[in-house]
Amino acid sequence: MNIVRGKIGWIEVICGSMFSGKTEELIRRLRRAEIAKQKLQIFKPIIDNRYSKEYIVSHNKSKMTSESVANAEELYKNVRSDTEVVGIDEAQFFDDKLVDICNKLADEGKRVIVAGLDQDYLGRPFPPIPELLATAEYITKTLAICVKCGNPANRTQRLVKSDKEILVGAEDIYEARCRKCFKPIG
Ligand code: TMP
Ligand code: MG
Ligand code: ZN
Repeated sequence: MNIVRGKIGWIEVICGSMFSGKTEELIRRLRRAEIAKQKLQIFKPIIDNRYSKEYIVSHNKSKMTSESVANAEELYKNVRSDTEVVGIDEAQFFDDKLVDICNKLADEGKRVIVAGLDQDYLGRPFPPIPELLATAEYITKTLAICVKCGNPANRTQRLVKSDKEILVGAEDIYEARCRKCFKPIG
């Protein structure tokens, strides 16, 4: 990434199961940009009220100030023209328009870093991340550790019965599992 010259934008996606360190990795990259005195803005969907409305927060409690928006359109409207780096967390809660919006921002010369779940509680691709992967320049898949057997985990086990695709929660209702220990329940 340090060989890029001029004001060219691109998309980086950080995806994986819950407890795999997506937000932590997003924060790590954004802090580097901050240290380099780049202008950045961080967004998350309003629906993610787990810890706070004003911060993105990782499971290990590191956090950065963010702006909450209702949808992808609102996110785009709130990006200032001089912003160089746009961080987006919890992408799975955004609508499909997020893909176009990320591409628009990258076309405008911004570095767009997006973190989100790639699979839902049944192991199905969780929009809009799968589509975003197709257009992104850089993809990082983070793995958690299976709480049952200690193998690399790329699935999220829901521990309560619910067939809602969106169900906000943390270790109270979810845990990381490997493909062998994962048992989808709806
Ligand atoms: P995290 O990846 O930052 O830990 O957060 C994932 C959020 O997504 C968390 O609030 C739980 C939620 N979620 C769903 O709404 N549906 C799902 O199928 C899964 C696996 C998680
Ligand atoms: Mg997170
Ligand atoms: Zn396992």
